[in-house]
Amino acid sequence: MSINIAENSYLRPVTETDAKQLFEWTNEAETRKNSFSSEPVLWENHVQWLKKKVADKNCLFYIMMSGESPVGTVRLDMDDESRIGTISYSIDKQFRGMGLGGMILALVEEKAKEAGVQSLTGEVKLENKASGKCFLKNGYQLVEENPTELMYRKCLSKVPEHGKLDGDVFRKEN
Ligand SMILES: CC(C)(COP(=O)(O)OP(=O)(O)OC[C@H]1O[C@@H](n2cnc3c(N)ncnc32)[C@H](O)[C@@H]1OP(=O)(O)O)[C@@H](O)C(=O)NCCC(=O)NCCS
Repeated sequence: MSINIAENSYLRPVTETDAKQLFEWTNEAETRKNSFSSEPVLWENHVQWLKKKVADKNCLFYIMMSGESPVGTVRLDMDDESRIGTISYSIDKQFRGMGLGGMILALVEEKAKEAGVQSLTGEVKLENKASGKCFLKNGYQLVEENPTELMYRKCLSKVPEHGKLDGDVFRKEN
């Protein structure tokens, strides 16, 4: 069964009509616990927030579908200048432990490359072992850690020999 779910999985863009599904996912206990702001999210705030995210050209926001069923969500918030994308994601509780966490990161990486994102970052609470594994499995490296949080990063652009990349990110820095 898990093989079928994984084989039929793809990302489709989020719309405002996904508000209810996203609201349920964001307030699911494990997701709140693993979030850096663990308070429950209020419906009114959620609707306003979603409207902004859908309109934001620096936000790539998707639902992962398996056939006709929504099974998870992933969002990439990009820094306009540096083209660094920060990932937020979750898998529906009933579909966890089937490899979909790893798969959603692989799928969003393809979208990020198409959008010209230079590197991807994931910030993970230390106790969130499943998420840490998903990042490592997808070739991310642990770049920072403190007693409560780990930061994973994956560079999507090849660094040329002179050590500088084309693109706004490095133009800004150099
Ligand atoms: C994190 C999350 C997306 C992972 O999705 P998933 O589909 O369950 O992950 P996968 O099935 O791809 O498995 C990830 C790995 O973690 C392991 N794992 C799962 N739960 C674990 C736990 N409690 N402790 C240690 N490892 C665990 C799995 O065995 C698997 O390891 P493997 O590849 O070596 O077999 C999912 O648990 C989730 O939605 N959590 C709530 C929201 C969240 O934490 N989002 C991430 C915020 S950074």
